[in-house]
Amino acid sequence: MKNFLSVGDVSNLDQLIETALAYKSSPLKDNSLGKDKTMGMLFLNPSMRTRLSTQLAAKNLGMDSIVFNVGQDGWALEFEDEAIMSGTTVEHVKDAAPILGKYFDVLGIRTFPSLKNKEEDYSELYIKQFIKYSGIPVVSLESATLHPLQSLTDLITMREVYKEKRKPKVVLTWAPHVKALPQCVANSFSQWVNYWGGADFVITHPEDYDLSKQFTKGATIVHDQDEALDGADFVYVKNWSTFDDYGKMYVNDPRWMLTQEKIKKTNNAKVMHCLPVRRNVELSDEILDSSNSIVTQQAGNRVWAAQAVLSEILKG
Ligand code: CP
Repeated sequence: MKNFLSVGDVSNLDQLIETALAYKSSPLKDNSLGKDKTMGMLFLNPSMRTRLSTQLAAKNLGMDSIVFNVGQDGWALEFEDEAIMSGTTVEHVKDAAPILGKYFDVLGIRTFPSLKNKEEDYSELYIKQFIKYSGIPVVSLESATLHPLQSLTDLITMREVYKEKRKPKVVLTWAPHVKALPQCVANSFSQWVNYWGGADFVITHPEDYDLSKQFTKGATIVHDQDEALDGADFVYVKNWSTFDDYGKMYVNDPRWMLTQEKIKKTNNAKVMHCLPVRRNVELSDEILDSSNSIVTQQAGNRVWAAQAVLSEILKG
């Protein structure tokens, strides 16, 4: 593996999941793989789980990591080629990234979308500029359109929890929120579940909240949440803003919040969320505090997903 930006960078998904679960059983079994190597982790946006789990994963592989909060501590970066930098940006990625390539062996980047310019966000300009100019492997710690470490974790968690022979019914449901959020987690979950092909996959959301078809193709899309939840084995809860009329929040209908009453329609579904979650807006206390919720197990698995990916990069 050279870079990790999407499921397209994975050559054998089942094997990657098995690698992650093997690390969960034996975290230090490859603890010299990253000896004398250092991972730089650049955050243009906040993070708790991704930051800490990736640092732990690097540590388990014997690799140092250094975190740099670009958004708070660094110079404002310019990403457009041939920009006339007479505005607020101070340093071009063309100058900064090669230096990072000299300091580090692997580079992790978190860079959220603007939600203002769909073409720019969906071109993944920022992370692609780091790949172009750093000269070292780049791992997405969540980019403008995708969150691959989260999605790998999600598949690992479903593999771990689900023991039936038949395909699970997996439902991704839109949830209310107080502000417009990126489509990254929903895009990425859709991309990975579709690629995996091991589920009967349904996406439910209010009309006008369609995700990009490049990620949802293969899933069944319904606008009636009750119909979607019928017989579900897993319900993945997530808010996202509009894609077509980009970055808007049209409705915030509280009836879309998953409740214990709605869980009765499911096959006693396990409930997932990438976290952080707005309690009693996206998901009710009664669900989050019930045995249906596997959000803590899911977040715990972030370490093993990151470790599996970093090990592939180090071997590559
Ligand atoms: N799920 C997730 O990416 O969490 P953080 O934003 O805390 O990293």
